[in-house]
Amino acid sequence: MNFIQFPKGFLWGSGTSAYQIEGGWNADGKGESIWDRWCHTPGHIKNNDTGDVACDHYHRWEEDVDLMARLGLKSYRFSISWPRVLPAGRGALNQPGLDFYDRLVDRLLLKGIQPCVTLFHWDLPQALQDEGGWIEPGTIEAFGEYTALMVRHLGDRVKLWATLNEPGMGSFAGYQGIGHPPGVNDFRLSLQVAHNLMLAHGAGVQALRAERADAQAGIVIDFWPVDPVTGSNADRQAAELFWQQRFTWFLDPLLRGAYPPLAWEAAGADAPKVGPGDFELMGQRLDWMGVNYYSRILMSAEKGRVREIAGAEYTGLNWEIHPQSLYRLLMLLKDEYPIPPLYIAENGAAFPDELATGEDGQMAVHDEGRTAYLRAHFIQAHQAMQAGVDLRGYFVWSLLDNFEWLQGYAARFGIVFVDYPTQRRVAKDSALWYARVIARNGLEA
Ligand code: FCB
Repeated sequence: MNFIQFPKGFLWGSGTSAYQIEGGWNADGKGESIWDRWCHTPGHIKNNDTGDVACDHYHRWEEDVDLMARLGLKSYRFSISWPRVLPAGRGALNQPGLDFYDRLVDRLLLKGIQPCVTLFHWDLPQALQDEGGWIEPGTIEAFGEYTALMVRHLGDRVKLWATLNEPGMGSFAGYQGIGHPPGVNDFRLSLQVAHNLMLAHGAGVQALRAERADAQAGIVIDFWPVDPVTGSNADRQAAELFWQQRFTWFLDPLLRGAYPPLAWEAAGADAPKVGPGDFELMGQRLDWMGVNYYSRILMSAEKGRVREIAGAEYTGLNWEIHPQSLYRLLMLLKDEYPIPPLYIAENGAAFPDELATGEDGQMAVHDEGRTAYLRAHFIQAHQAMQAGVDLRGYFVWSLLDNFEWLQGYAARFGIVFVDYPTQRRVAKDSALWYARVIARNGLEA
């Protein structure tokens, strides 16, 4: 056993997003989001769950911040619900909505927890969707205005800003028949939506900097490294193509000023319309980039994605546990791209956790699987840092069990258990373990 020490100031944190935890879906003048509308239609989400109440964080935020403080979190990544502050997506501000984030930020700082804010974690105002959503350039403009407004109000206290969370999921999942709102299945449109979303990112970065020179502008991208199932040329090509279509499709415009070549060619007539200056806007200098990593993908030319892998271990959602791919991913980013400082913006695992009562009558959750998952990934991240990757922090997904999109409440990602009927929070064993890692700024490996 040796002790793995992380550098001084390493930003240990945990993350959530607005729709997944807040609830209060129509409280105090909040506007409807596309996720509100989508979940209110039966058949869209497992068990017809909705985010109407979720973790009731909108009302329990103080208790939740205190919980973060008890765990010793250095930072908390959360997202702002755009329709909570701008019910129509633009124009009139909903003051109680802004006040909510204002107080949240104050309390975090009071407890010594640095806020890291994501501006768009998929819950687009329904009013903007009604005008065409991300297909319409007007939405890009509205995002710029919303961003400026938020940084104007919170930028004196919030330094770390992410424009978008996972633009890939935020576009393809709603436009390639994957079941997210607005529930469209049109490949050509999905590429245009993705393009517009990345233009919005660029407009957001510009707005952040125009409002405050000290705002640190970033974006959060998800990566599932894609490996060929065999060493054959066909499988390798299939893997590379999927990697480009799904992941570097977003990374390359940010850092290379172009779409990745193989995927661009494959898109053919479906490719998005690229206007003059688009790549310049998408490629605004970044102060940081967030990496979401959960698992990898195995690809076969013949069968497509292969989900059953001999000898593999899986999480509760049948996602392969593959910590080595986090190391490889970080090294690839460092070696092949001019990357800014990185943060792991999400990493974690869902398991079918259960509440247990200890001999002392205290509630507990014995989630050894999650602790093992996090430990293995922390070690890989540290190795990548030893090899030269400039990694500044790590946000475990998620602070709380929450509304996991299509899975509803069936998937528990939290390091803190939420007993939904009572809204009681119980720190799982993984949270207690994580608190020790943070306190010692390292772990035994
Ligand atoms: C990511 C999302 C996040 C959460 C995790 C499990 O794709 O960004 O909101 O749902 O997956």
